[in-house]
Amino acid sequence: IHEEEQVFVDYALELVKKAGTLVRTAFDSAESKVETKASNTDLVTETDQAVEKLLIEGLSARFKGHRFIGEESVAGGAKIEWTDAPTWIIDPIDGTTNFVHRIPMIAICVGLAIKKQLRAGIVFNPITNELYMAQVGKGAFKNGFPIRASKNESIADSVLILQLGSIRSPIMQNSFVESYKTVMFDKQCHGHRSFGSAAINMVMVAQGSCDGYVEYGIHAWDVAAPAVIVLEAGGVVTDPTGAPFDVMSRKVLCAGTAQLGKDLSNCLTHVDFEPEA
Ligand code: IPD
Repeated sequence: IHEEEQVFVDYALELVKKAGTLVRTAFDSAESKVETKASNTDLVTETDQAVEKLLIEGLSARFKGHRFIGEESVAGGAKIEWTDAPTWIIDPIDGTTNFVHRIPMIAICVGLAIKKQLRAGIVFNPITNELYMAQVGKGAFKNGFPIRASKNESIADSVLILQLGSIRSPIMQNSFVESYKTVMFDKQCHGHRSFGSAAINMVMVAQGSCDGYVEYGIHAWDVAAPAVIVLEAGGVVTDPTGAPFDVMSRKVLCAGTAQLGKDLSNCLTHVDFEPEA
């Protein structure tokens, strides 16, 4: 099984590098066509679609019986099928708004789950050439070098990431503003950042640059791959309430340490979501 899994991951890495060239070229060249999905804040480009096609066609030609959960396929009407089969969870460009605005913080995300357990994650920023990857039990790496989450246990000493995504409902606004006020003004944390890509936010925690991250409303493809990287870097990944992480729950909390994760959870104004599978 493990040897087989290595073959899967090695091949996915090859495809992700090819996809990177495509994204890099589109980023550097004239604007690609931008369309909106669920709302004016939810963007998709032809590059997102081309990259997802490249990855899914490549993997499905090589590995029979594997399944796919891809952001743009789902946007196009595909159902999320969450089964025991080896399943690739793909975000062709995480940070599409950054991509559209030529902000170089974007990531191609490919996660692998087997029997509904996340096994491997690849997060590649083809603009900065930063390739993060992890496999369960094998550690987390950036461009081949091991990375570690921070050992910080105190909110006051932390740089925290609270990201508000494309859903701007009153409940989401209230949650974001109240949580922000608590960590920045009541708890006086070192600072707040948010990079506009769930995957970049999470690798920032995995490499110890930031100490914690919370977001509500994300999808499985935003977090599947980077969750493996955070865990293998020694960090924690949970539900924002502190309950166990469920990749289909549409919310995530990451931290360098369990203590910080717990304290951060207690600062938050929580939002409930229906699981997507
Ligand atoms: C989005 C990014 C963004 C987050 C949104 C995601 P996309 O993914 O990760 O940072 O706030 O929740 O949907 O649409 O760029 O792949």
